[in-house]
Amino acid sequence: MDKLLLLLLGVSVLTSLLSEAFAQTDLTGKVFVFPRESESAHVKLIPRLDKPLENFTVCFRTYSDLSRHHSLFSYNTKGRDNELLIYKERVGEYKLYVGRSGVTVRGLEESASPVHFCASWESSSGIAEFWVNGKPWVKKGLQKGYIVEAKPSIVLGQEQDTYGGGFDKAQSFVGEITDLNMWDSVLSPEEIILVYQGSPLNPNILDWRALNYEINDYVVIRPCVWN
Ligand SMILES: *[C@@H]1O[C@H](CO)[C@@H](O)[C@H](O)[C@H]1NC(C)=O
Repeated sequence: MDKLLLLLLGVSVLTSLLSEAFAQTDLTGKVFVFPRESESAHVKLIPRLDKPLENFTVCFRTYSDLSRHHSLFSYNTKGRDNELLIYKERVGEYKLYVGRSGVTVRGLEESASPVHFCASWESSSGIAEFWVNGKPWVKKGLQKGYIVEAKPSIVLGQEQDTYGGGFDKAQSFVGEITDLNMWDSVLSPEEIILVYQGSPLNPNILDWRALNYEINDYVVIRPCVWN
């Protein structure tokens, strides 16, 4: 009887510890607000990812009135800077880095208006695709045959120069971000349209409806009022 009770207690303590370590929140209809420029405010995202990546798609919505360049999605692995980085140079110009190599893509975009952005990459061809507000931008190619390392440190709001740090205020994000999802495959054009329209299609690396994250410094969660 006593042993059973102890066992049950042990199990319940373990369960609550585990659920704390892997707390997942449904952020549907919510945004992360990065309210002011800083070299510290960021959100760390904890992915479901234990194997290297041959293919990926990352999508999110942002609303920002920044005119300078800034980081949107920073994925570093131990000893590897810019293993995967999505960076906005200016309105109508984005950069994607895979394994420290970068490509630039340009297209038509309005300033200070909400943007739905997707980038995908496939190792076998090296082809990177970009979708802005559901419209395809010009495809580019980089790092054909490369494999993106697993066990990343993923950061929103800042650009990492190290594993989880090395931030620079001049590259920080100021604004709102929502509906961030990541898949270990290249989504088809039809799937991208569905995601753009608001059906997230079971993202298996990062899921906005079941997000494991950690807020650091001045980042606030608010309802999304612009989407
Ligand atoms: C990555 O994509 C290629 C081409 O679409 C496919 O052949 C390959 O199986 C994919 N790799 C994984 C690990 O899913």
